[in-house]
Amino acid sequence: MQTTTAPVIQVQGLTKAFRTYKKEPGFGGAIKGLFHRRYEQTLAVKDVTFSVAPGELVGFLGPNGAGKTTTLKMLAGLLHPTSGKAQVLGYVPWERDDGYRRQFALLLGQKNQLWWDLPARESLDLNAKIYGIPRDLFERTVAEMTELLAVKDKLNVMVRELSLGERMKMELIAALLHQPKVLFLDEPTIGLDVVSQKTVREFLREYNARQQTTILLTSHYMADIQELCRRVIIIDHGTIFFDGLLSEVVDRFADFKLITIHCAGAQNCPKEDLARYGELVEQQAGSLKLKVKRDRVISVCKALLDNLPVTDIDIEEVPIEDVIRQIFAR
Ligand SMILES: Nc1ncnc2c1ncn2[C@@H]1O[C@H](COP(=O)(O)OP(=O)(O)OP(=O)(O)O)[C@@H](O)[C@H]1O
Ligand SMILES: [Mg+2]
Repeated sequence: MQTTTAPVIQVQGLTKAFRTYKKEPGFGGAIKGLFHRRYEQTLAVKDVTFSVAPGELVGFLGPNGAGKTTTLKMLAGLLHPTSGKAQVLGYVPWERDDGYRRQFALLLGQKNQLWWDLPARESLDLNAKIYGIPRDLFERTVAEMTELLAVKDKLNVMVRELSLGERMKMELIAALLHQPKVLFLDEPTIGLDVVSQKTVREFLREYNARQQTTILLTSHYMADIQELCRRVIIIDHGTIFFDGLLSEVVDRFADFKLITIHCAGAQNCPKEDLARYGELVEQQAGSLKLKVKRDRVISVCKALLDNLPVTDIDIEEVPIEDVIRQIFAR
């Protein structure tokens, strides 16, 4: 994306290889393993390059095992890369400078980061003390955010007794207490019910707009991505294969369009006849929906108009969710 200001996140050729011990099956394998350890290398992130401008909210997409969490962990300084460079707010994350620690937050939706055996308020309070957040700012932030996230009445509940959604909201508050300039969110809505997902989403959109926090977000829920991110980076097998506007994903990767025609007697058209136009998606009284290769859309429309008593015709893009699913299935 073209921007005149310096990027907040700058990643160049970032690579991470994990070495894992591989055990051969059975007892024999275990014995053999005692003498000859066999290692296998997983290239989790391969030569990844991108940059993010101040205030951007970028979606980081990819199937399971694509390298998203590994990338975020490197940017948060939890992992050392095997090679490559990164700078966030001018800091090299894995040098773990205190100045950097105070300016970013990482939320791992799959992991509990709060103190399990404390009431939520005390757990937040401990976080605030670690970061040296002034009392009045702490009180104000907690009051405001618990209100927005609808967990005000949960502050005195032990963290381990909170529901998944309530805990995630508290985690989010904890991550934002020190007003980070950069936020890495790894599946912040995972496992939440649709209402909580929506609450968290709206909260993030608001927060990003108001605070101009730079956010890199992963989610397997396309609703999160569609509602929050104009730009997406798609990664697969550790390699980036798309970086651009979400709206361009459909143009680039959708091989099909959906054509709906309205005509009397649509329900009676023989399926074999319709198959020559494209894949029949829906057949109802008075309408038909067909999935048609992009490059055949015009000719199929012509043929349909010639051969059937068409009264109306609609051409739509395949939903982005389906396009992404199709990309991941490749
Ligand atoms: N500590 C580790 N040791 C060995 N291999 C690892 C380690 N962490 C991750 N990997 C491997 O690196 C690859 C990328 O994993 P990563 O967790 O980054 O994927 P992801 O994109 O976050 O996937 P998901 O959508 O399932 O969360 C996977 O093949 C994973 O098995
Ligand atoms: Mg992950």
